[in-house]
Amino acid sequence: MKEAQASTIYLKDYRVPEFLIDRTELRFELGESETRVISQLTMRRNPELLGNAANTLRLDGQEMELVTLSLNGRQLTPDQYSVDDDSLTIHGLDALQGDNDDGAFLLSCETLIKPQENTSLEGLYKSSGMFCTQCEAEGFRKITYYLDRPDVMSEFITTVVADKAKYPVLLSNGNDIERGEFEGGKHWVTWEDPFRKPCYLFALVAGDLKSIDDQYTTMSGRTIDLRIFVEAKDLDKCDHAMVSLKNAMAWDEKVYGREYDLDIFMIVAVDDFNMGAMENKGLNIFNTSCVLANPQTTTDTAFQRVEAVVAHEYFHNWSGNRVTCRDWFQLSLKEGFTVFRDSEFSADMGSRTVKRVEDVSFLRTHQFAEDAGPMAHPVRPDSYMEISNFYTLTIYEKGAEVVRMIHELLGAENFRKGSDLYFQRHDGQAVTTEDFVVAMEEASGRDLTLFRRWYSQAGTPVLTVSGRYNSEEQEYHLRVKQTCPATPGQPEKLPLHIPLKMALLDSQGQEIACQLQGESKDTGESDPQQERVLDVTEVEQVFVFANVPEAPVPSLLRGFSAPVKLQCDYSRDELVFLMTQDSDGFNRWNAAQSLAVDVIQELLQAHQSGSSVSADPLLSQAFADVLNTAIVDAEARANNAQDSDAFADQAMLAKLLALPSEAYLSELYDVVDVDGIHAVRERLASDLAATHKAAFSRLFELCRSDAPYVADAAGIGQRALKNTALAWMVRAETPEALSVCYAQFEQAENMTDRDAALRLLTNAQSDYAEPLREKALSAFYEQWQHEALVVNQWFSIQALSDRPGALSRVKALMAHSAFDIRNPNKVRSVIGAFCQHNALHFHDRSGEGYAFLADQIIVLDGLNPQIAARLLTPLTRWRKYDADRQEKMKAELQRIAQQSDLSPDVYEVVSKSLK
Ligand code: TRP
Ligand code: ZN
Repeated sequence: MKEAQASTIYLKDYRVPEFLIDRTELRFELGESETRVISQLTMRRNPELLGNAANTLRLDGQEMELVTLSLNGRQLTPDQYSVDDDSLTIHGLDALQGDNDDGAFLLSCETLIKPQENTSLEGLYKSSGMFCTQCEAEGFRKITYYLDRPDVMSEFITTVVADKAKYPVLLSNGNDIERGEFEGGKHWVTWEDPFRKPCYLFALVAGDLKSIDDQYTTMSGRTIDLRIFVEAKDLDKCDHAMVSLKNAMAWDEKVYGREYDLDIFMIVAVDDFNMGAMENKGLNIFNTSCVLANPQTTTDTAFQRVEAVVAHEYFHNWSGNRVTCRDWFQLSLKEGFTVFRDSEFSADMGSRTVKRVEDVSFLRTHQFAEDAGPMAHPVRPDSYMEISNFYTLTIYEKGAEVVRMIHELLGAENFRKGSDLYFQRHDGQAVTTEDFVVAMEEASGRDLTLFRRWYSQAGTPVLTVSGRYNSEEQEYHLRVKQTCPATPGQPEKLPLHIPLKMALLDSQGQEIACQLQGESKDTGESDPQQERVLDVTEVEQVFVFANVPEAPVPSLLRGFSAPVKLQCDYSRDELVFLMTQDSDGFNRWNAAQSLAVDVIQELLQAHQSGSSVSADPLLSQAFADVLNTAIVDAEARANNAQDSDAFADQAMLAKLLALPSEAYLSELYDVVDVDGIHAVRERLASDLAATHKAAFSRLFELCRSDAPYVADAAGIGQRALKNTALAWMVRAETPEALSVCYAQFEQAENMTDRDAALRLLTNAQSDYAEPLREKALSAFYEQWQHEALVVNQWFSIQALSDRPGALSRVKALMAHSAFDIRNPNKVRSVIGAFCQHNALHFHDRSGEGYAFLADQIIVLDGLNPQIAARLLTPLTRWRKYDADRQEKMKAELQRIAQQSDLSPDVYEVVSKSLK
């Protein structure tokens, strides 16, 4: 393989910076062909390094032209410094600096950059005519020479100069303190951010933007201006983000005691963005897909995503900005914690159990797969080549689960004490995950020594649990074993501290008092609890419960109290019992999933061995029960028979009426039978659809409503249940069902219902469906062609279709005039959707899907390495497929590896997945 310049960076090599930057003064002269950046850095040696006599100063910098460089006002000559592709180094600093009491010096630098040619979308670049920045993780070094590392924190004063007609709005971090105009149509604004920050939180925006403005009064009575900046055409899509922002501000005050600190908080929406959004201090920059929403153009799912991402970025103001990361190995310090915060926020805004079900499904499907693949890494990695590759599901999602476990172990009150201590102790600092854990320990008195292994050990632990009841002794023995598979670089694993939340249920489904042997009944402290959290800390442990009057059914890992694979030999009857009787809502859903998984696995085994079995009728019966509940509930609603508190959670019912996804089922196998899983699951679904045809139709009718669209929990739940029922109806592909579906497509007054119907039509296979589908797809495009986000949705609906001929349709979509390979949202909605979420066709035996992806990656790597590397994921999973597919996937990886000038991003992923 071609050796790229990529080298490995190790956590163990961390050293504090030799130099600090106290003040950063920047001036940007934005131009059409180039932009001039003038920086004045007030620097000094780091006094933390005793006797620090560093005499060489190395600054990071890439892809820029150095114009002038001076130190303390004296221009440096080329022999006094050197420049290469990644850096600027000043030699013999002492001599240059001259005498200066406090050791401070002023480094001034003028550089030229070309934002309009920047397709990587990091650093300063242009997106639909506006200038914007993305500096995390290491993009600032494409703007000017700097110490581009998160533990160098500076005050920033930024002046932006640009043509006034083209760029009437000029923004940066903090408060705007001065503005003025020059002759020749230029104007300028100076921004000052009083909070010291690392340069990855720097932001600049210049463009012809409009805003919706609001205010928020904080808990201490300060008034904050809130502004969301968008292109004029999108002004009608900002309300939801604004409401979400105010809810998030109130929630952080109430739940964490955290108040906003500047006088203004701004959000800017941009079309071209590598990720969801970015928490730049006081000036969050968002992918349009994560901020714009209105009922006509946006689905419920997207509404919820906007709420979550707005909150996530806002919460970073404390968990990320006021307290930041010492180095990028600590990324989960801010991301894991902030994802935990945003998921709790969403749980409080909507349905808590449904939110948990969604998060856990996502984690178990995608993060578990990552943790079992060649890019597996700990929540706090030990090494990386390209940090952009480490914005992963492990850092974010598993990191959030680790924080959630601390919350579980400490309890809400102690967790809050811990977070108060963390924020107070480390305000203004760049710290480590260890500092976070120490604060939690000190505030709560809980020993987290063993728990720390969650940060350093990769892989998904497997918990094997078995129970045994002794009627004579009235004891129940719960045996718990833990193992963890090897991951790259970690062949041997140590036991983890796993909080196992559980209860014991009697035959009526009532919780039995859980009294561990040795615990006395009458010491007030350890009153027998109904539900408790067991501390699993050893490879094998037996928990003995005393005074258990009958053989219980254990309800284990309630609320998914730890990110592990739970193995427990429940009978199908026990699963049905848990499904209906467990008082833990998450476990009711989980039991339903387990039952369906079990039945599907049995069907698949039969399918593979060429024998035929029919699905266990228990599953169909379970469906009938849920359907019945849903129908009775919907009837009660229709008749206003109960007060609304007694109504069922319709979003939860929709989840209970969904079979496990093909992706989740695939994750459960070492070798995935793509076609088999699809065939078996489809057949089962068709049978269930036929069996419960009448009930699904009845439910669909009952869930239709003339009420105006509201994106609240009740409305979202009602539409989810209705569209689930519609999906089951359409499975039969009868002309009646397809006509109902088409009618919903045509008449829908909101995008959720329209989108659901269009998806079903796009997947329908029958001849009768074909003209309806073609009509619907072209009408949809016709109507929404001027809404980029809706066009993306139109792309992805088609790329996801499981009808034959998927790849050629994807290629046709890429030739569509609305497609643009430079725009990450478009790449994700066509190439990403097909390769990551259309397994049936991506993994077509011919291998054409693999070759297609490799071709796209090679093109994209020259434009946007971050996106290219992310898109690679499905190919890296080659070990999970049969020998023939493995060969084909590997061959494509090798073809990519042989390209010259691979980016470090793609190089790292390809080389690690071929190891
Ligand atoms: N810090 C951002 C978040 O999670 C992530 C992010 C946004 C990012 N843009 C990026 C990470 C570009 C790497 C590259 O909120
Ligand atoms: Zn984040």
